[in-house]
Amino acid sequence: MMIDAQMPTRIVFGAGRLDELAALDLPGSHALICTSKSERAERKALLDRVIGLLDGADVAATAYEGVTPNPTNEQVGEACALAKESGCDFVIGLGGGSSIDAAKAIAMMMRQDGDLWDYAYTGSGGKKDILQAAPVVAISTTAGTGTETDPYSVITNVETGEKLDFAADVLYPAVSIIDPELMVSLPEDQTIYQGIDALFHAAECAITNRAENRLVDVFAQESISHVLTWLPVVVKEPGNIEGRTMLAYAADICSGYTQSLINTTSHHIIAQTIGGMFPSVPHGASLIMIAEEYYKRIAAFVPDELDLVGAYLGVDPCNHLPGQSFAEGLARFFDRLGVRGLPLSDYGIAWEDLPAIADAAVNRTGIADVDLYTLTEEDVLGILQRSYR
Ligand SMILES: [Fe+2]
Repeated sequence: MMIDAQMPTRIVFGAGRLDELAALDLPGSHALICTSKSERAERKALLDRVIGLLDGADVAATAYEGVTPNPTNEQVGEACALAKESGCDFVIGLGGGSSIDAAKAIAMMMRQDGDLWDYAYTGSGGKKDILQAAPVVAISTTAGTGTETDPYSVITNVETGEKLDFAADVLYPAVSIIDPELMVSLPEDQTIYQGIDALFHAAECAITNRAENRLVDVFAQESISHVLTWLPVVVKEPGNIEGRTMLAYAADICSGYTQSLINTTSHHIIAQTIGGMFPSVPHGASLIMIAEEYYKRIAAFVPDELDLVGAYLGVDPCNHLPGQSFAEGLARFFDRLGVRGLPLSDYGIAWEDLPAIADAAVNRTGIADVDLYTLTEEDVLGILQRSYR
């Protein structure tokens, strides 16, 4: 048995544990707090609470509240300039995946020269090594991306429309505070999209893993089983703290760990391409829109791997249709949550846009490097067309 693993983030997990922020050995004396502008009173109150807690530890704070869903290279540049002007020496990502991913990119550019895009490792990125970054503390308010425990940041380039990954060991957060009490006010649609995102991180990593590193399968199965059990509960009872806790554990720890061990599939790349070109599409929604057709298309390539993750979803493999149990399990779960068949057209995506999405996903993002199989531009276009509503 061979295992490669590095999961260096200190995790502070559990209901109410944000209160421990001041008692942590924080990695600096002046934080840039990177967060989104929200009209929701509880989000404003949360920012004030964090600033108050830092004050109690004699740590100064400067807030950047300009992060949007699908955070951009422009936002990273603006926030990085603010951090340098203000003398910040570490970054706190406060919010969901967007705020934490932006925090990682800002931290990187606080210590690296040049342009952010020099360091993107696919597409038009310069593929330079990321060797340094200021320390990042993640305070997560969602159960979705796994960025709390993984070495990735996903940023959209406003000039090229690309939504690309940055990856480096220095992008693991130094500390992640995962407090499910901060998640009870998340709206239903975001709760569903983030839970599904976590499910796909786990499943895709298990597919790519091909049963080689046991840790991947252990964390993937653990994550998927809790998403399957608890996401429908939390949709019905948003304040169910046990459910919020188990979803946060699944998404922010187990699925984060699978991603720190191995990469996801091109399902994620195609969905990210949609999000880069059409920024109003939530990440989880873009995954749902193409999932069933994507997994039907790859069933012949990786039947055993798909039947393994199908089993994690509680579906027995079918002898006549090897590899189709995962798509079947997804269809049932999406139906249960009321999100099956989400229309791409609801987000302004026209049938005529599909070839450009396929072209960008296949020719500009290094799709060939991530999968155990090779999808052509024609394959991806077919998946998009069969998914189109
Ligand atoms: Fe994702």
